[in-house]
Amino acid sequence: MKVGYREVDIFSNTEIAKDIFELKVQIESNDSMGDPGQFYMLRSWDLDPLLSRPFSICNVEESVLTFLYKVVGRGTNYLSKLKPKDKLKVLGPLGNGFNLNVSGKVALISGGIGIAPMIYLAKKLNTGIDFYAGFTNEVYYMDYVRKYVAKIYITTEDGSTGQKGFITDIFRPEKYDVVFTCGPSPMMKKVVENCENKSSVFVSMESVMACGMGVCLGCSIKTKSGMKRVCKEGPVFKGEEVFFDD
Ligand SMILES: Cc1cc2nc3c(=O)[nH]c(=O)nc-3n(C[C@H](O)[C@H](O)[C@H](O)COP(=O)(O)OP(=O)(O)OC[C@H]3O[C@@H](n4cnc5c(N)ncnc54)[C@H](O)[C@@H]3O)c2cc1C
Ligand code: FES
Repeated sequence: MKVGYREVDIFSNTEIAKDIFELKVQIESNDSMGDPGQFYMLRSWDLDPLLSRPFSICNVEESVLTFLYKVVGRGTNYLSKLKPKDKLKVLGPLGNGFNLNVSGKVALISGGIGIAPMIYLAKKLNTGIDFYAGFTNEVYYMDYVRKYVAKIYITTEDGSTGQKGFITDIFRPEKYDVVFTCGPSPMMKKVVENCENKSSVFVSMESVMACGMGVCLGCSIKTKSGMKRVCKEGPVFKGEEVFFDD
């Protein structure tokens, strides 16, 4: 990781579904731009809000880094106003990503904007994996991911695309050796419970972050082996290690 924030140029910032933006930034660097599951701290504002915001790497193509974000509050609202050639401050890549050295039958399971890190993971694994994506209504990024995976399963809560319901309704853990998941906490909890004694499951956890570099301890979560920093030991953890209710 390059130490400290650097200023980069916005390449594009496009609303691809309601309140969902694809942000591409240009980074000139000889260092790695990051692996699937790693993240960057972003800020396009000065002092208010005080904290930068964490976002997973959604894709890396030559010198262009892609993020996918949902507008939920002040920080993401500021990001949504950015135009090509505007400046953005970025810190990263940060954290420990997914283990790419896996064998057997693999499934990726995303819920909502949790799809962001799974796109880059699907591209990097690119070995006949199955991709399960659950959305509330609008579906996005499926055409891009299609070329990297064997099969795509889609659910929407309103039934407008794919099967009506939640993605956990149609996921069959007994078909898989390894499962990676990112999405709302109740969804990941259910995936972990369903996978018990069937498949190894890895979860990408979320927590509010301040430093993003392991210093402030603000992002710590309770695990079976003690408190762990999502930004440093995570964000990817073994599913059975995490307490989802704390
Ligand atoms: C490692 C990591 C990777 C992430 N990757 C992505 C990504 O690729 N795309 C994306 O859209 N989002 C991602 N997030 C979540 C993203 O960081 C938050 O949505 C963002 O910080 C919200 O900022 P805001 O100022 O717009 O909202 P705020 O005003 O800070 O908050 C708005 C609402 O969202 C809740 N909230 C804020 N941050 C989080 C959080 N981290 N976890 C759970 N709830 C939160 C608040 O409690 C509040 O209810 C990631 C989070 C982490 C920890
Ligand atoms: S955000 Fe400071 S230790 Fe994780």
